[in-house]
Amino acid sequence: MLLLWFGFFSFVFGVVIYRLQFHPLSEFPGPKLAALTSLYEFYYNVVLGGRYLWEIERMHEQYGPIVRITPHELHVADPEFYTEIYAGPTRRRDKDPRLVRLAGQPMSMFATVDHSLHSSRRSILSNYFSKKSIAGLEDMIQRKVQKLVKRLNQACDQGTIVQLDAASSALTADIISEYAHGVSLDYLDDVNFNNEVADSILSLASVVHVLKFFPFLLDLSKFIPDEVLEKLWSHAANILRLQKLVRTQAAVALQNEGKVDGQVTMFGALCDPSLPAQERTLDRLQDEGFSLIGGGTETTTGTLKICMFHLLNDKALLLKLREELEQFPSSTWAELERLPYMRGVINEGLRLSGVITRLPRRAPDEALTYKQWTIPPNSLMSTSTHFVHTNKDLFPNPHTFDPERWIRAEAAGERLEHMIVTFSKGSRQCLGNHLALAELYLVISMMVRKFDMDLYGVTADNIVTHREYGFGVPKARGDGFRVTIKRVPNP
Ligand code: HEM
Repeated sequence: MLLLWFGFFSFVFGVVIYRLQFHPLSEFPGPKLAALTSLYEFYYNVVLGGRYLWEIERMHEQYGPIVRITPHELHVADPEFYTEIYAGPTRRRDKDPRLVRLAGQPMSMFATVDHSLHSSRRSILSNYFSKKSIAGLEDMIQRKVQKLVKRLNQACDQGTIVQLDAASSALTADIISEYAHGVSLDYLDDVNFNNEVADSILSLASVVHVLKFFPFLLDLSKFIPDEVLEKLWSHAANILRLQKLVRTQAAVALQNEGKVDGQVTMFGALCDPSLPAQERTLDRLQDEGFSLIGGGTETTTGTLKICMFHLLNDKALLLKLREELEQFPSSTWAELERLPYMRGVINEGLRLSGVITRLPRRAPDEALTYKQWTIPPNSLMSTSTHFVHTNKDLFPNPHTFDPERWIRAEAAGERLEHMIVTFSKGSRQCLGNHLALAELYLVISMMVRKFDMDLYGVTADNIVTHREYGFGVPKARGDGFRVTIKRVPNP
C-alpha cells in the first residue's frame, strides 16, 4: 500500500515538474494553477457554469495578450493575430480530437481533426453553400418566411403571445432540413413551434463543459433504454432523438442513390460512388446530416434574437430601420444587403452573438510568431470571437448595440466588416454563412416592415451574454423571447 502511495505521489510530482518547467508552453505567461491542471477551467466552466471566458479576460488584463490558459492551450486576445490561428486552406490547421468528439457527430467535417481529410469532406458540400447557390435558394426561403408571416398574422388576430426565438428556430430548421435532407421538418406548422433540433442543440450546449471532462457520458447514454434516459438525463435523450431522426433519412437516401421522396439531396453528394467506400457509410451520412441541421438552426436564431431585442428595446432604432425599408417595399436579399442601416443592424447582431467558445487549432508543421513569442508547432491555440468583437479600439462602447457605427466606419474608409469573425475565418470557417445571412436579412426585414411587436417580460438580463456554453447564454433564461404582436397598418 505504501508503495502504491509513493508511486502515486511520484507521478503527480513528475507531472507538476514537467508542466511547470519542461512543457513546450512552460515559458508562456499565465497563472501557475492553470498551467498545472485543467481543474482550473473545470472550476469556472463546470462548477460556476460557463464563466471561464471572463476569467481568461481577467488573465489577459494581468498577463498581457498571450496567456497559457490550460496546461496545453494558449489564448491570444489580439484581433490582428486571428487569421494566423484561423488560417486559410494552404496552411495546415488541425482541430483538437478531445474537443470535437463532444459535438456528437464524430464523422462530420466539423469534427474532422485532420486538415487534409477535412478539406476533401468540405469540398463535397461547399458548392451547395456558395453565395450564388444560396441566392438561388431565395424563393424557397421566402416561401418559408411567408409561412411564418401567416402564423404571425394568426397571432395578431387571436391576440396570442409569440415565442419569437422558437418561431425563428422552427423557420431555420425547416429551411435547412428541406435544403439538405430534401424533407422539411415543418416545425412552422406546430402550434407552439416545438422543435426537436432546437431542443437537441440547446441540450448539447448545456452539457458541453461537463462532456469535456467526462466525454464518455454521451456514448454511455446510447445503451440506456429511451424511456429511462428521458427520466435520467433528458438532455441526452433529446440529442439521441435527433440523431435517430437524421439516421432514418440518411438510410433512406443511401438505399435510393441519395434520393429522399424522389428528390436528389445533399445525401446524394455524400454517397456518390466516386467517393472512397469508408466515406459513404451510414454513420458518416448521419453525422454530416446532423451537423448541417444542428449548425444551421440555433446559431442563426441567436443572432436574430440579439437584433430583435435591441430593435424592440429601443424603438428609435426600429423606426429608423422601418423608414429605410419603406423606400424599398419588396427587396431581395441582395438589395437588403445594400441598405446601410439594415446592414448595420445585422452586423451588430453578428458582433454580439454567435459561437463564443474557444475553437482551438493546432499548426502541426509551423511555428507561429506572436510579438516576442514563438508558439511551438502542434500547440493548441485559440482566440474566442468575444475578444475580437468587444475590442474597445475596434468597437468603442463595445457592449452598445449601435448600427450606425458601421455607417460611420464606411464613411471613414475603415474596413470594419473584416473584423467580424462570427463565422470564424479560414479553412474551417462556417459553411453556412451565406445561408445564415440570407435568412437574417429576409426575416428581420419582414418582421420590421409588417409587425409592431413589444417585448413581453423580456429584459437585458434574458439576452445579454453572461455565460459561455458554446454560444453566449444570458444571466437568466426567463420564459423565452416572448413578444406581443400587432399588424403595422398598410405596411
Ligand atoms: C449566425 C449563424 C451562424 C453562426 C454564428 C455560425 C458559426 C459557425 C462557426 C464559428 C463555425 C466554425 C466552427 C469551428 O471552428 O469549429 C461554423 C462551422 C460550421 N457551420 Fe456555422 N454558423 C452559423 C450558421 C450556419 C448555418 C445556417 C449552417 C447551415 C448548414 C451552418 C453550418 C456549419 C457547418 C457545416 C460548419 C462546419 C464547417 C467546417 O468544419 O468546415 N452554420 N459555424
